[in-house]
Amino acid sequence: MANSITPLVAGNWKMNGMIASSDEARAMAAGLADLADPKCDVLICPPATLIGFLARVLGESAISLGAQDCHPQPGGAHTGDIAAEMLADVGATTVIVGHSERRQDHGETDALVASKAQAAWRAGLKAIICVGESEAERDAGDALTVVRSQLEGSVPPEATASDTIIAYEPIWAIGTGRTPTPADVAEVHDAVRETLKELLRPEGEGMRILYGGSVKPGNAAELMSASNVNGALVGGASLKAEDFLGIIRAYS
Ligand code: PGA
Repeated sequence: MANSITPLVAGNWKMNGMIASSDEARAMAAGLADLADPKCDVLICPPATLIGFLARVLGESAISLGAQDCHPQPGGAHTGDIAAEMLADVGATTVIVGHSERRQDHGETDALVASKAQAAWRAGLKAIICVGESEAERDAGDALTVVRSQLEGSVPPEATASDTIIAYEPIWAIGTGRTPTPADVAEVHDAVRETLKELLRPEGEGMRILYGGSVKPGNAAELMSASNVNGALVGGASLKAEDFLGIIRAYS
C-alpha cells in the first residue's frame, strides 16, 4: 500500500512573498508543465495575503495552493486570525497546522493543533499536521517518544488518508542546512507509520508522511529514497523556481 502513495512536494513560503513573487510562482508552474511525467503532486503555501492572488495567477496549472495556519473557529471575534473557510474561499486546498514555528512562537499545543486540523476538514481542506523533535530532545535519545506523543495529541482519531498529511520536521534541521541521515529519517518515518496504523487503523497505512528540514535539490532524491518518505515540506528552497523545480525533478 505504502508504495502506491503519490508523493507530495509542498512549499512553505513562511513570512516571505510579495505580489512580485508571482513571477516565481509562474515560473514554477511553467517548469512543472514542461515535465513530461511528474511523479508527485505539487503545493505552494504562500502567506495568506497572496493565496487569492496566486489562485488567479496559477489558474489551471498543476500547482495547488495551501495556507500556513488557520483558526479553529469558522468566524467571529478573533482579531487578526483567519478561518479555514476563508482560506478555502480564496482558493486554498490545504492548510499546514502545528508547524514548529507556530508551536514555538505562539505556544500552540497539540490539542489546539488537533482542533485546527478539524477546522480544516470542516472547510473541505486537507490538513498537513507537523511534528518533530528539538535538538536537545534528539540528543537525549527522545526523538521517537516526542514524535509519538505529538502524533497522539495532534492527529484527531477521525483523520483519513485523503484529508490528512503528516510532516516530520526535526526542528534542528529547519533552515539550518543540516539534515538527518537517510537512515535516521527512515527510523522516524517507520515509527510514524506504525503509530498512524495503531491510531487510525487502515487510514494510517495510506497517509502521506513528508520529510521537512533543509530539503534542497541536491539532497531531495536521497531523502526521498528513505523508507516511508512520501514527499517533502520545503521552506527556503521553495522560494525560488529553480530550486523548487530541482526538488520536484528529484521526485519525478
Ligand atoms: P527549510 O524549512 O526547508 O527552510 O528548512 C522547512 C519548513 O520549516 O517547513
